[in-house]
Amino acid sequence: NYPKLYHDYKEHFLIGAAVNPKTIISQHELITRHFNSVTAENEMKFLSFHPSENQYTFDQADQLISFAKQNGLNVRGHTLVWHNQTPEWLFHSQDGSLVDRETLLARMKDHIDTIITRYKGDIYAWDVVNEVISDKVGEFLRPSKWLDIAGEEFIEKAFLYAHEADPEALLFYNDYNESVPEKREKIYKLVKSLKSKDVPIHGIGLQAHWNLETPSLDHIRKAIERYASLNVQLHITELDVSVFNYEDKRTDLKYPTEEMMIRQAERYEQIFYLFKDYSEYITSVTFWGAADDYTWLDNFPVRNRKNWPFLFDIDHNPKQSYWRVLDIARS
Ligand code: G3I
Repeated sequence: NYPKLYHDYKEHFLIGAAVNPKTIISQHELITRHFNSVTAENEMKFLSFHPSENQYTFDQADQLISFAKQNGLNVRGHTLVWHNQTPEWLFHSQDGSLVDRETLLARMKDHIDTIITRYKGDIYAWDVVNEVISDKVGEFLRPSKWLDIAGEEFIEKAFLYAHEADPEALLFYNDYNESVPEKREKIYKLVKSLKSKDVPIHGIGLQAHWNLETPSLDHIRKAIERYASLNVQLHITELDVSVFNYEDKRTDLKYPTEEMMIRQAERYEQIFYLFKDYSEYITSVTFWGAADDYTWLDNFPVRNRKNWPFLFDIDHNPKQSYWRVLDIARS
C-alpha cells in the first residue's frame, strides 16, 4: 500500500502508462493504483484498427477503453498517422500501383473520421501525427509513402480532419529524439509553421525514450522551453529511462548493477524536478509501460535482453526511483 503516484502529482499533471491487452490483466492492480491516464501501446495504430480497406477491428481498443472507464482513467490516443505499423493496402490500388494524392487523403480522412468519432468523449487527446521529422542532419521530413504520395500537406490535413471529427479533442504532434538540438529545431519549425497557418494543433508530445546519460538535463530543459514558446501544451508521452544504452548491442548483459539503479533514481529525480518546474506547460507525463516485467526495451535494441526502465520492479514493488519521484511531488 504505497502512496498513489498520480495522487501526489494531481496538482501538476496526469501520470500515465502505456498498456496493452496483456498488461491490463497482469498489471491491473499497479496500473489502477498509481496512474490516472493510459495509452494503448499498439492497439490504436493504423494497422491494428484498419488492417484491410473494408475492415475495421475495434475489439482490443474497445477493451482498453472499457478498462479505463471502469477505473476512471483518462485516455490518450496513439496514433492516427505514422510511417510504421501502417498497412500497405493504404498506399496501393487493386492493381498494385501507388494510389494518387486524392485517394490517399480520402483514405486518411475516412480512417481519422471513423476512429475519432467512435471514441469521441472517451479519448481526450490524440497523437495525430507521429514521427514525421527526419533524424538525418540536413533532411527535414522523414521519407515515407505518405510524403511521396501526398506531399507535406498530409500533415496539416490530418490535423484538420481530426479537428473536424472532434472539435473538443486535444491534438498533438509526437516525436522521439525530441531533445536533440538539431531535431528539436526541426520539430519547432514544423509546429510553428502549422500554427502560422491556423492548423488546429494543441500540443507537442515529447516521447522521452531516454537513458542514464542522454539527453542531458540541459538539452531537455531547452527542448521544453523551446516548444513551450510556441504556446502549446506539452505532454511527455513515452517516458522510460533505459539502463543499457541503445548503442550498446551486447547480448550478454543481464542485470543492472546497484550503481545503475542508484543513477536511475537520481536521473528520475532530476527529470521530475524539471517536469514539475515546467508544469505550467506540461499537463501529462506518460511512461511507455508501468513496471519492469514488461517493456518494449526488452526487445530493443537487442532481442530478449531485459531492461529495467521504470519506477516499479518486475514484482511491481516500488524501486528507489519511485521514492525519489514521489519526494519531488511532495517537496
Ligand atoms: O502482433 C504481432 C504478433 O502477431 C507476432 O507474432 C509478433 C512476432 O514478433 O509480433 C507482434 O507484433 C509486434 C507488436 O509490437 C505487437 O506486440 C511487433 O513485432 C513489434 O515490432 C511491435 O513493437 C511495437 C513498436 O512500437 C513498433 O514500432 C512496440 O510494442 C511498441 O512499444 C512501440 O511503440 C513505439 C510508439 O508507438 C512510437 N514511439 C516509439 C515506441 C517504441 O518503439
